[in-house]
Amino acid sequence: MLVSATEMLNKAVEGKYAVGQFNINNLEWTKSILQTAQECNSPVILGVSEGAGKYMTGFKTVAAMVSAMIEDMGITVPVALHLDHGSYDGCLKCIEAGFSSVMFDGSHYPIDENVQKTTELVNICREKGLSIEAEVGSIGGEEDGVVGAGEIADPNECKMIADLGVDFLAAGIGNIHGKYPANWKGLDFDALAKIKDLTGDLPLVLHGGTGIPADMIKTAISLGVAKINVNTECQLYFQAATRKYIEEGKDLEGKGFDPRKLLAPGAAAIKEIVKEKMELFGSVNKA
Ligand code: 13P
Repeated sequence: MLVSATEMLNKAVEGKYAVGQFNINNLEWTKSILQTAQECNSPVILGVSEGAGKYMTGFKTVAAMVSAMIEDMGITVPVALHLDHGSYDGCLKCIEAGFSSVMFDGSHYPIDENVQKTTELVNICREKGLSIEAEVGSIGGEEDGVVGAGEIADPNECKMIADLGVDFLAAGIGNIHGKYPANWKGLDFDALAKIKDLTGDLPLVLHGGTGIPADMIKTAISLGVAKINVNTECQLYFQAATRKYIEEGKDLEGKGFDPRKLLAPGAAAIKEIVKEKMELFGSVNKA
């Protein structure tokens, strides 16, 4: 059964570790992440962007697939199905489709409009038992056509959004989606500390987990980050393993063309990186 992400993230704040959000694209992705979470006895959040939802034919398909896989695979660790960077309408659709958590990304609206739309969605999520994430200060980089400049969130605006009753908050602290450029300045821990000061025990979310050095991840967790999103790194691992399979000519040997064989190395590579992240984030055996 899917659960909201509230309890697992409150526990993470208390225990000073973070739960990984790993984005899914298809059945193989979902299977690899669920298997790894179960093997690591770790809570997990499956992230679905609006684009990935569309790719998988719609949010209803995603919710039905994930719920059925949890049952068929005998998954007992807590699993939340979460809309990543949702629009207002996207959130409503996911609530309707059976997701257990949504992120409303109102970071591109003026703060008053972000406040108003977030408030409406908080009320709906409360009533239906879903958890909700909000964002202040847009996350840099490009994701599903949404381009952010990598702002540092204003701590007072974070407090304003936190007070609306969101369950966790994404605050830009110099993090960006995708690979980090060579001249990246790193995370702004002063900003993070100020945000933490004003938002108390509210779990904070670090987007753009791909390529952030391990020591920065650990410092971020010590300063209140309890959810870390990883997407690109799984894609890169999948790509490298698939490329190797083809380049070694394995698809030309015997039944190597069978999609179940063709996709197996990529699926195994996703398990490897997800396990590495769960160990780094400290969520192993925290289910
Ligand atoms: P990366 O693709 O950089 O890992 O970021 C993932 C993310 O933040 C999803 O919201």
